Amino acid sequence: MIPIARPDLGPEEVAAVTEVLESGMLAQGRRVAALEEGWANYIGVRHAIAMGNGTQALMAIFAGIDLEPGDEVITVAHTFAATANAILYTGATPVFIDIEPDTYLIDAKKIEAAITPRTRAICPVHLFGLVADMDMILAIADRHGLIVVEDACQAHGATFRGRPAGSFGHGAFSLYATKNMTTAEGGFVTTNDDRLADWLRLYRNQGMRSRYQFEMLGYNFRMTDLQAAIGLVQLDKLEGNTARRQAIARRYDEALADLPVRLPVTPDGRVHVFHQYTVEVGDARDAIVAELGEAGVGADIYYPIPVHRQEYIMERGLHAELPVTDAAAARTLALPMFPALTELEQQTVVEALRAAVGRHPDPALAPEAADRDPAAIAR
Ligand SMILES: Cc1ncc(COP(=O)(O)O)c(C=O)c1O
Repeated sequence: MIPIARPDLGPEEVAAVTEVLESGMLAQGRRVAALEEGWANYIGVRHAIAMGNGTQALMAIFAGIDLEPGDEVITVAHTFAATANAILYTGATPVFIDIEPDTYLIDAKKIEAAITPRTRAICPVHLFGLVADMDMILAIADRHGLIVVEDACQAHGATFRGRPAGSFGHGAFSLYATKNMTTAEGGFVTTNDDRLADWLRLYRNQGMRSRYQFEMLGYNFRMTDLQAAIGLVQLDKLEGNTARRQAIARRYDEALADLPVRLPVTPDGRVHVFHQYTVEVGDARDAIVAELGEAGVGADIYYPIPVHRQEYIMERGLHAELPVTDAAAARTLALPMFPALTELEQQTVVEALRAAVGRHPDPALAPEAADRDPAAIAR
């Protein structure tokens, strides 16, 4: 089976982990500090604060900006549930708005209509490795005095007009096993806010500035040196691996151009880092995924049930009408995408998709259908 993702781990990571194990110093230490410095430099921010995972990075940011019950954060439902869950962690309310049909990212044109006197923040999710429309989001945030929290968990090194994801507001990154860069589990907060950075360093370490001096309420959201050792090797590899993902995406673009499917778009001024390569295949999506599986191709769905339709969200009265999100959840699939995907494997994926889509073509996606208008998916 060609998997949807495969981490790029080799002898360097093994050697780095072995060195930490042999040193006997496993917990947060100098390697975490080195990784934080490396990540802050890479993103071009004053502070990177390592966390146990991306969810904790989001939770800590939302806690650190003092969200309270009754506060609202405008975000999307076409995301991993952790985005909304981290808002709920503070007692605040996620307010879901729809996405753009072509990029699958927050539709910034819909933000202002969702703003109320309780709105405190906007949380765009740079899904699949593409940065949301930060020009528009920053302008709106500025106009209304809102904080911007970027869920950059899937966007390591993606840029918008040359600026990296995670450098516009307070950013959260995930270093989960399948991400563009991994520490098995891990995360970062990125910020230029000195006060917030100091607060986050305390919050992740039980509120302790020095041993057993509990300066404030805090928890254990720490990364270990074992993870950071992997992360330092992965950071060195990130640019090369991103280039490989982009080359694979270009090959998919060329090989799939004549099929009745809608391919990922990269608006001008953005650099896509292709955490996922997601295509719209139409209403027969589930049958196509099943047939790809039979052909040995591990396609997957991100995300089959959008957050606003999850039971625990609906129970909280947080449902919203999001037709573009619903259409994306029903009609798209992601193809295998990882740096070591070979041309031969990719050929297998392309042929399997060509055959499956040939058996289940969606008329709305046929080349002759009104320019395959992406808005059509929201019908
Ligand atoms: C968009 C998004 N947000 C948040 C997270 C949470 O990150 P983690 O799994 O590291 O807790 C992920 C990772 O899966 C993600 O993809």
